[in-house]
Amino acid sequence: MGLFCISCSIISTLKVLLFIGVATFIGGLIVLPILIIYVRIHFAKNRAGRLRKETVVGFFHPYCNAGGGGERVLWAAIKSIQTKYPSVHIAVYTGDLDAEAEQIIKKAEKGFNIQLKPGIEFIYLHKRKWVEAAPYPYFTLLGQSLGSVWLGLEALNSLQPDIYIDTMGYAFTYPLFKYIGGCQVGCYTHYPTISTDMLRHVYRRVVSHNNRRIIARNPFLSAAKIAYYKLFAAIYGLVGRCAETVMVNSTWTEEHINAIWNCPFKTHRVYPPCDVEHLTKLPLLTMEDKNGIIKIVSVGQFRPEKDHPLQLRALYELRSIVSEELWERIRLVFIGSCRNADDEARVKDMQDLAKHLALDENVEFKLNVPYPELVRELQEGTIGIHAMWNEHFGIGIVECMAAGLIMVAHASGGPKADIIETQRGSQTGFLAENEKEYAKVMAYIMSMHAKDRDQIRTAARASVNRFSGENFEKGFLRAVEPFFRSKQE
Ligand SMILES: *[C@@H]1O[C@H](CO)[C@@H](O)[C@H](O)[C@H]1NC(C)=O
Repeated sequence: MGLFCISCSIISTLKVLLFIGVATFIGGLIVLPILIIYVRIHFAKNRAGRLRKETVVGFFHPYCNAGGGGERVLWAAIKSIQTKYPSVHIAVYTGDLDAEAEQIIKKAEKGFNIQLKPGIEFIYLHKRKWVEAAPYPYFTLLGQSLGSVWLGLEALNSLQPDIYIDTMGYAFTYPLFKYIGGCQVGCYTHYPTISTDMLRHVYRRVVSHNNRRIIARNPFLSAAKIAYYKLFAAIYGLVGRCAETVMVNSTWTEEHINAIWNCPFKTHRVYPPCDVEHLTKLPLLTMEDKNGIIKIVSVGQFRPEKDHPLQLRALYELRSIVSEELWERIRLVFIGSCRNADDEARVKDMQDLAKHLALDENVEFKLNVPYPELVRELQEGTIGIHAMWNEHFGIGIVECMAAGLIMVAHASGGPKADIIETQRGSQTGFLAENEKEYAKVMAYIMSMHAKDRDQIRTAARASVNRFSGENFEKGFLRAVEPFFRSKQE
């Protein structure tokens, strides 16, 4: 009797579940498409009734007043469109409610030395908090992505552009603008929302910023998380492919985007504009100008991944392979900003390590130096050293090369893929992997004939033009040109 009752209640529970399942299915299959068609028609009508007849380009950049590298790309992109297509109307979607249009423009013009034409419209978005991590302690990626759709809806509702260009990587907004808004969609991606590296951390069950300890330690939670990530990556690929032209900022990003979006034919590598022009104009100093002092310059924040200890150990190795007379002329100069107590502690550790290795006479620390002094150090240097493993790009390396240093960088990541050419004849620098290699390469550079050194310096300077504003403009315009061609027909 009791057993019968239990099976009865199980059956009725199953019935309820089945009912919910069917209802969701019908809802998803019938109601959702009707809703989508309805909104589409609504937006198509909107577009037909629009008063503005010129082409409208909308840039989606909710943090446009931040003043970082991503913003330089935004303003340089806007400037290039203004120059090439003067009759186009440009709008920027921003969530910076506290900044007025003039303030934003002024900050961009001053901060990036970019002159913009007047007439840029700002569309203020109020729902930006939904793309921040704070509201989603769990399933952060999914939460932020759905939040971006919500923010995108607000944007589309405020202004419906002809061409939509996302410069912050909110891929989940692309289907919205493409299928509902009827826009042409392009994007510039600095960083994939989910990368194969993140998946690997969960696979190997290591604790990292995207993998909590409790998950790394539990095989079931890890398996569930892998499933979640895989599903997310699949959807990310689906929405990303909605863009008709995809720009990526480096080889690293290109590889990851290709792995997930898998649309290499419409993916273009367009390096972001670096402000190196003034550095390439500095006169190259000779060894006599430098009083015979050979400075090895290391520019970088005092963060653990920059691997300053490796640089010190390399100097230690160097000492054992050069003459005493040469050693007296060698200085390793660390230049970097010290932002907090952690940084200070690391600097202290480094100074202790230098003492321990008996290098302190030949090592200098320059903390928080003003920009003109940094430039002078670069100019007086002979060798630039960089030791971070797998850096995605390395703008610091580009700046050192522009200033005339001969770089020895870590043989991995962006330095290897994008920046340094080691082929004889077109050599622009050196790569190394461990302290012995670094030491050997530096000793070799010091033993080179000045003429051969200058050849590398000149080639390095010429090569950093690939990262100039002018080259960015060319690459960007080439990638978005089809949008404007179809508008003019
Ligand atoms: C691309 O963007 C990422 C994320 O902002 C950054 O780490 C990387 O340095 C950028 N690459 C270039 C070439 O600027």
